[in-house]
Amino acid sequence: MTTSTQTLEAVLSWIDEHLEESLVRVEDFLRIPSVGTDPAHDEDTARAAAFASDLLSELGMDSKAHQTPGQPMVMAHDDGPGSGPRILYYGHYDVQPADPLELWDSPPFEPVRVEGDEGPMIVARGSADDKGQLMMFIEAFRAWKAVTGSLPTPVHVLLEGEEESGSESLEPFLRDHVGDLASKVCVISDTGMWDPDTPAITTRLRGIVYLQATLHGPTHDLHSGVYGGAVVNPLNALSRILAQLHDDQGRVQVDGFYDDVEVDEALITEWSALDFDEKGFLATAGLTSSLGEQDRSVLERVWSRPTCDINGIWGGYSGPGAKTVIAAEASCKISCRVVPHQDPVKIMAGLKAFLEARTPTGCRWVFEEHGCNPGICIPTDSPWLQTARESMGQVFDNEAVLIGCGGSLPIVGSFQEILGVDSLLVGFGLDTDRVHSPNENFSVARFRHGVRSHAAMIEAFGNMSS
Ligand code: BES
Ligand code: ZN
Repeated sequence: MTTSTQTLEAVLSWIDEHLEESLVRVEDFLRIPSVGTDPAHDEDTARAAAFASDLLSELGMDSKAHQTPGQPMVMAHDDGPGSGPRILYYGHYDVQPADPLELWDSPPFEPVRVEGDEGPMIVARGSADDKGQLMMFIEAFRAWKAVTGSLPTPVHVLLEGEEESGSESLEPFLRDHVGDLASKVCVISDTGMWDPDTPAITTRLRGIVYLQATLHGPTHDLHSGVYGGAVVNPLNALSRILAQLHDDQGRVQVDGFYDDVEVDEALITEWSALDFDEKGFLATAGLTSSLGEQDRSVLERVWSRPTCDINGIWGGYSGPGAKTVIAAEASCKISCRVVPHQDPVKIMAGLKAFLEARTPTGCRWVFEEHGCNPGICIPTDSPWLQTARESMGQVFDNEAVLIGCGGSLPIVGSFQEILGVDSLLVGFGLDTDRVHSPNENFSVARFRHGVRSHAAMIEAFGNMSS
């Protein structure tokens, strides 16, 4: 008789024997430049959605790329063995823009394998975030289907193309398909591990409040000799205002910014047991010293403290040579990472009020919001989390640790609010993956571990009560 352990062993062996074919499929996916935020890439983004949907159809799943006002949403269903708890798998097939192109060692959409610290790694935009990671569960499905003819439990799959640009179409889509996506838990692979040998489950995410602000002054660009010294210069004014966002200790000066931030001493003690390599972390950014709230550890600052960062400033002349001009307007993009208990709406209002209160005479602001999402805490006592932890123990030598994440996945809040389902964040990235940066990469070893982990997890989920 075949026991469940023997079946899983057979599936894990199948994954190893067919790893090269899986990697080729990942590389084919990475060749499609699905930059979701850039309309010039809309056709590519649609092609990536079709590619992913076809992969799922090939596996016998009922899959379709649905049109939305934004990028297509891939939704697929599989009834597994006909019983068992239904699991929702989420990933995003859109990628960040690849620029600055000149800083890549090889073209971003022509994946190459390069020798890295963990052995071979695939270098390409999207290799870690998130095409490489979503392919891990698809390849785990493939292995189960190949070895046993079916998945161990029913699943829904949802693959989005707007995650990197604010997921605007996601909430309306979820509201229209609540019934089609009913499930016990949502599994997401878009976060990180603790280190190359230690898997992790993320239980805290920061939210994001994103504001674009343009300060308008004179009706048109002016000669800086004719008008300079006599009129407002929006670029001078904007620089002065933005310089006031932080005090000399790096504390954000927006009114009430820290009012609702809670310090969870127990969690911080738990994290300190992880023995974070601060120097190693800074080295992944080419730095030797940290900056920020000095009375808190670097890990605590990234995982549990709010921030305010200027992401871009522009206006006036930045071409070659000199142009003596006072520009009519100056713009910036500002994002705040917010933590659980902070109200993102209040932070957005506070940020606008901060800018408004400093409006120079004769100027006016035009604001554009690009996201307003809360920080998230995921309950650590869930049986799904315990099961995932145990299953990863079958694949790794080390037990999975519980970690925080400085990044944001606003969809986790939407799944909770609209579908009433908690998420399980089991990702396989590392800080060295250079996500959102030139030379993004993902190691073959971690890809393999990810596929194997998903294969073990889905079997264990199938054994839980539905
Ligand atoms: N996969 C990332 C989130 C992430 C970043 C996880 C770093 C682990 C480490 C995700 O695709 C992402 O970048 N999200 C955006 C969300 C934003 C555009 C609303 C982010 O965090 O900036
Ligand atoms: Zn991502």
